[in-house]
Amino acid sequence: MADLRATAKALVAETKGILAADESFPTIEKRFKSIDIPSNEENRRAYRDMLFNTPGIEEYISGVILFDETLRQSSSDGTEFAKLLESRGVIPGIKVDAGAKDLASFAGEKVTEGLDGLRKRFEEYYGLGARFSKWRAVITIGDKIPTDFCIHANAHALARYAALSQEAEIVPIVEPETLMDGAHSIDDCYSATKRTLTDLFAQLQAHRVDLTGTLLKTNMVVSGKDASDQASHREVAERTIQVLKETVPADIPGVVFLSGGMSDEDSTVRLNEMNKIGGLPWELSFSYGRALQAPAIKAWKGESSNVEAGQKALYHRAKMNGLARSGKYTEDMETEAA
Ligand code: 13P
Repeated sequence: MADLRATAKALVAETKGILAADESFPTIEKRFKSIDIPSNEENRRAYRDMLFNTPGIEEYISGVILFDETLRQSSSDGTEFAKLLESRGVIPGIKVDAGAKDLASFAGEKVTEGLDGLRKRFEEYYGLGARFSKWRAVITIGDKIPTDFCIHANAHALARYAALSQEAEIVPIVEPETLMDGAHSIDDCYSATKRTLTDLFAQLQAHRVDLTGTLLKTNMVVSGKDASDQASHREVAERTIQVLKETVPADIPGVVFLSGGMSDEDSTVRLNEMNKIGGLPWELSFSYGRALQAPAIKAWKGESSNVEAGQKALYHRAKMNGLARSGKYTEDMETEAA
């Protein structure tokens, strides 16, 4: 367990957070569509090659979550991506869930699949260099949902996954994402997030998961994306801290946030607000996908001549979030760097 604790702590080291680059085939296809390039194996490899070779990225990025295909791919000089990251002091991680699927009999709700054969897959992933993993569950807010049943089915699967991950000496990142989709209020998000985290930590305990070698990845408490009344950054920060204090044991070394559709700058400002408030038992960090990658993919456009521009964009967002780790970010830093 000593290694698990050290890895979990390293992932939330001061000034650093995690880059989520584990888009599944359908998700990366969607991202590539926005720059009008096809999702084929070489484009996916070239894009990740650009991200992982960003000069200085290790100053602000502690680990990268990879997709199964990416963990098996290599940089243009032939170095395996996991080796490349490791050589720069960045810890390779792996997304192991098989996606959120419709939960039978519960219209509008999902349950994440992927437990079958997971013990064997973990063995292989360890051999390929993965030292942490991620499993994402999706909780939807709507008319009479989320149900307790859906929350529980997902919490149970997350805990089974986490126990298997630790057995393989791989740090689990348990990720229940309460979606922003809808016109619900921040109170609805708070309540769904609270119910979800409460059940999750009860399940982790029941499954004898060592919390000191585990990280929580979750959503911030926000107004629904289509709500006419949008909560301020300060309110998001306060309500998020409130729900974490009420549900997350102090044994967890860190909580890392997903961006979940928040803009890149909102994601940074809100993390910064929370770290300004401070006085918390865990590190508060980031594990952003879109909020780190959006400007980079836009600058890259699938062309090798834009690699440097793409890397600069990623470095900038990583740095801004690295500063938000200690509440030192200010919005004027966005234009200074431009
Ligand atoms: P976003 O930050 O784009 O939500 O992605 C994070 C992630 O890993 C979702 O599972």
